[in-house]
Amino acid sequence: MGLSGKGPQSHRMVIFAAVFILMTLLILYSSNTVNDNVYAPFHVATNHVAKVTDLKKWSGKDGYVPVYGNKNMTLHCHNCALVTSSSHVLGTRAGEEIDHTECVIRMNDAPTLGYGSDVGNRTTLRVVAHSSVFRVVRRPNEFLHHTDSNPVMIFWGPPNKIGKDAKGTLYRLIQRVSMTYSNVSCFSITASKMRRFDSLFHRETGRDRQKSHSWLSTGWFTMVIAIEICDNIKVYGMVPPSYCGRKPATKKMPYHYYKPRGPDECITYIQNESGRRGNHHRFITEKQVFSRWAKQYNITFTHPRW
Ligand SMILES: *[C@@H]1O[C@H](CO)[C@@H](O)[C@H](O)[C@H]1NC(C)=O
Ligand SMILES: *[C@@H]1O[C@H](CO)[C@@H](O)[C@H](O)[C@H]1NC(C)=O
Ligand SMILES: *[C@@H]1O[C@H](CO)[C@@H](O)[C@H](O)[C@H]1NC(C)=O
Ligand SMILES: *[C@@H]1O[C@H](CO)[C@@H](O)[C@H](O)[C@H]1NC(C)=O
Ligand SMILES: *[C@@H]1O[C@H](CO)[C@@H](O)[C@H](O)[C@H]1NC(C)=O
Repeated sequence: MGLSGKGPQSHRMVIFAAVFILMTLLILYSSNTVNDNVYAPFHVATNHVAKVTDLKKWSGKDGYVPVYGNKNMTLHCHNCALVTSSSHVLGTRAGEEIDHTECVIRMNDAPTLGYGSDVGNRTTLRVVAHSSVFRVVRRPNEFLHHTDSNPVMIFWGPPNKIGKDAKGTLYRLIQRVSMTYSNVSCFSITASKMRRFDSLFHRETGRDRQKSHSWLSTGWFTMVIAIEICDNIKVYGMVPPSYCGRKPATKKMPYHYYKPRGPDECITYIQNESGRRGNHHRFITEKQVFSRWAKQYNITFTHPRW
């Protein structure tokens, strides 16, 4: 036997050792992503000094194109209520105050019907992601009828989906909606403005949006647009950037107020913040930027207050 007998056995040992090492690495790696990264593997580049962009001036007039007709995006408000979709708005009874604000801004398919006492029932501007268009048009009574007399809807998304030259289903759908509900002014964000949103993210965080596998959130677009059009902004239901890292862990709160059984907000934020493979939202990083902007522009946060 001798050598010929040891051959396969040491072979097996090597395979066994390799599997063992692999398993160990895997366990180490996954525990690392779960525990250690409770915060911020998505670093804002170190030594990064945010270059200040004057958002009141950066826009230019060519950022928004009417989906139908030749309206211009001329919305300007002295006071705005930016109502987030977070479940932190529930139980606040802020609806009345929100409705008394000159302009009310909402996102995607966040409803007012049934939540009026907490979120109010007026909508001046709704910022809608390409991925939420179907959910918005599916309920026209909720999103297209019961609104201010001249509501504005701004759609954002990849130019090949929502841009003027897009011939896809989504663009045709948006176009049909703006033809049908002509008292709602629908705009899409131009390709060049979409690139500006990316470079703004780069300037503010030191990270290239695409290379860092990040998606911008509807919250990012909405906050920037709100700063463009509003002199003062009061934000309802947005937690501060450090909120989800606090110990002991904060109470579970649904990510969206209208999906009580939906995912937890902090888990969604933290998992997105640390996600590497595939693209992820950097909700926490975005809030760090918002807190800087709050000092630069008149932005206040309520429920929670910070
Ligand atoms: C929109 O703005 C353009 C250029 O400023 C102007 O020529 C056009 O008449 C405006 N359209 C409306 C509907 O006000
Ligand atoms: C809007 O909400 C207010 C409470 O904030 C309520 O008094 C009013 O009846 C609501 N209006 C409609 C049309 O639902
Ligand atoms: C807007 O237009 C639609 C369809 O023409 C109509 O049903 C709706 O009542 C209008 N809403 C307002 C606030 O004028
Ligand atoms: C800032 O905004 C708050 C609420 O939106 C408002 O009460 C306050 O008067 C504003 N301050 C200035 C200097 O405009
Ligand atoms: C990231 O956020 C989105 C919501 O925008 C959510 O659908 C998704 O599940 C989150 N990803 C992770 C890994 O939690």
